Amino acid sequence: MSRASPAGRRLTFEIFRFNPQAEQPQPHMQRFEIEETPYMSLFIALNTIRETMDPSLQFDFACRSAICGSCGMMVNGKPSLGCRTLTADLPDLIRLQPLPVFKLIGDLSVDTGVWFREMAASSEAWIHAKQAFNPNAAEERMDDELAATLYESDRCIECGCCVAACGAARFAKDFKGPAGLNRIARFMMDPRDERDDSDWFDVFATEDGVFGCLGLMACHDICPKELPLLEVYAYLRRKALTTARKRD
Ligand code: SF4
Ligand code: SF4
Ligand code: FES
Repeated sequence: MSRASPAGRRLTFEIFRFNPQAEQPQPHMQRFEIEETPYMSLFIALNTIRETMDPSLQFDFACRSAICGSCGMMVNGKPSLGCRTLTADLPDLIRLQPLPVFKLIGDLSVDTGVWFREMAASSEAWIHAKQAFNPNAAEERMDDELAATLYESDRCIECGCCVAACGAARFAKDFKGPAGLNRIARFMMDPRDERDDSDWFDVFATEDGVFGCLGLMACHDICPKELPLLEVYAYLRRKALTTARKRD
């Protein structure tokens, strides 16, 4: 549980710096010291550093409430959301680095959008509708339990923390990653999608899909939205097995 900061703590931040626009860009770590304030989040700390010490510091925040997914960063080696990480839960020395795997924009800012777009495009993880859209038709009902399961998967904010924590995603460029497997499972379960298990099999039952997963569950431990990723992989593995049997 988060606690209020003890008064008077002086925090040292070691922050990764890299500006690809510079004439001779040199990645390095830079130290900043600031006074901790009560309930200080990394969002507040980084803004304090940018406003009082270095206006060139790059980092991303938008919603400040774990909704937009833009503030993922490595906090003392662990992928975390900067907006919901309190300095009170961290030691005096706080080391911040950009998330690996994603394209680096500068300092702590990465482009997760390219990775998520390519992942979605390679798996066509969106509804392939059975019927043409009719704006005048009554809304179709969906089974309550299924709707709740889809809602769980839809809670993903595409922050990239699980991908940064995933050894397989770091080494295999085309691995769909935890967020990708979650997205695939979400559309596989959707009754409005026209693709059957056999169509999906070639998308997820591969080395870039669920069989590329090492199963150590760092993604499950790290996900700030606590998505049930363990259940997602179990669902995909069961589907792979039953579909392979049917195909034989
Ligand atoms: S369990 Fe699989 S998807 Fe999750 S971090 Fe490990 S290798 Fe990646
Ligand atoms: S599954 Fe969790 S950690 Fe991964 S992108 Fe979605 S919200 Fe972030
Ligand atoms: S700023 Fe939106 S999730 Fe952190």
